[in-house]
Amino acid sequence: MLIWYDANARDLPWRVSPKATGRADPYAVWLSEIMLQQTNVTTVKPYFLSFMSRWPNVFALAAARDSDVMSEWAGLGYYARARNLLKCARVVAEAGEFPKSEAELLALPGIGPYTAAAIASIAFGQPATVVDGNIERVMARLYAVQTPLPRAKPELKLLAAKLTPARRAGDHAQALMDLGATICIAKTPRCGRCPLSQYCAAYKAGGAELLPRRLAKKARPTRQGIVYFARRADGHVLLETRAKKGLLGGMLGLVGDEWSEAPAGFAPPFVANWKPVAGNITHVFTHFNLILKVYCAQVEAARPNAGRFMPAPSPEDLPSVMRKAYLAGRAALGELSS
Ligand code: ADE
Repeated sequence: MLIWYDANARDLPWRVSPKATGRADPYAVWLSEIMLQQTNVTTVKPYFLSFMSRWPNVFALAAARDSDVMSEWAGLGYYARARNLLKCARVVAEAGEFPKSEAELLALPGIGPYTAAAIASIAFGQPATVVDGNIERVMARLYAVQTPLPRAKPELKLLAAKLTPARRAGDHAQALMDLGATICIAKTPRCGRCPLSQYCAAYKAGGAELLPRRLAKKARPTRQGIVYFARRADGHVLLETRAKKGLLGGMLGLVGDEWSEAPAGFAPPFVANWKPVAGNITHVFTHFNLILKVYCAQVEAARPNAGRFMPAPSPEDLPSVMRKAYLAGRAALGELSS
């Protein structure tokens, strides 16, 4: 794997090339691994670069305003990651540096077993075993593991641990990630180009693409909700900062009702000439599909207790579902009338 990695490592902005000397910056490794926890490399790259240029080290990030970090994160999803990112940055800045052991890293906010192992091995050269979805797939095929996921997880981790080298464990882990992302891909593995094919039990048996097995997933339920887009004559729009706990926690959003499978119906934050925006917004969350109805109103003066009228935000500062609803509301009221 290391020989293959030396020749084939992807060039990624948080990486130190295997050809270069020196270790990766722990801050860059940490930031990228948090972003990559639930999000693919292509989506993460621009976010990683803008965070690094705006907050180039952990002390800068620790001193940032919460709302600036949340709006910079907007669109990446899984917003608990951004809240924990700030918490973690502040703990680390207070301590003066990142801890180097897997166990101490694991104790930090937002750092689970995957991220602790990734930082310990990639940034600090510790022989930690990193297991993400890609590496699980590679192990399941290499050893032709028939146990379905998620039950197979402990077994796959043990197999990955047996292969972890004492030296260059971080490069080894990133080699497996790259293999999983470019060759040992889910549906149509490119076994003809795989450096492990001669050792791969699934390849030898034929049918690498059938592994890993997976228990049938439950169908996603559908929830519905309503959001209200109100714009004042001075162009300010009604927004709220969502509660820290829960979905889209701490993010800016339109005011609305609770999303549920049994929708409660039209209950606007104040009386106005509310008009339904044609069509619906749809959005897929991990555990449910959402259908949002947007109502819009042009209003003269702010009403109390209904969120806050604030200067029109840049749509990029809103999480994706709210961005869609915001753009729909704005288009329905007419962009030029503000
Ligand atoms: N996915 C998560 N971490 C990664 C890394 N360090 N390199 C490539 N893909 C990754």
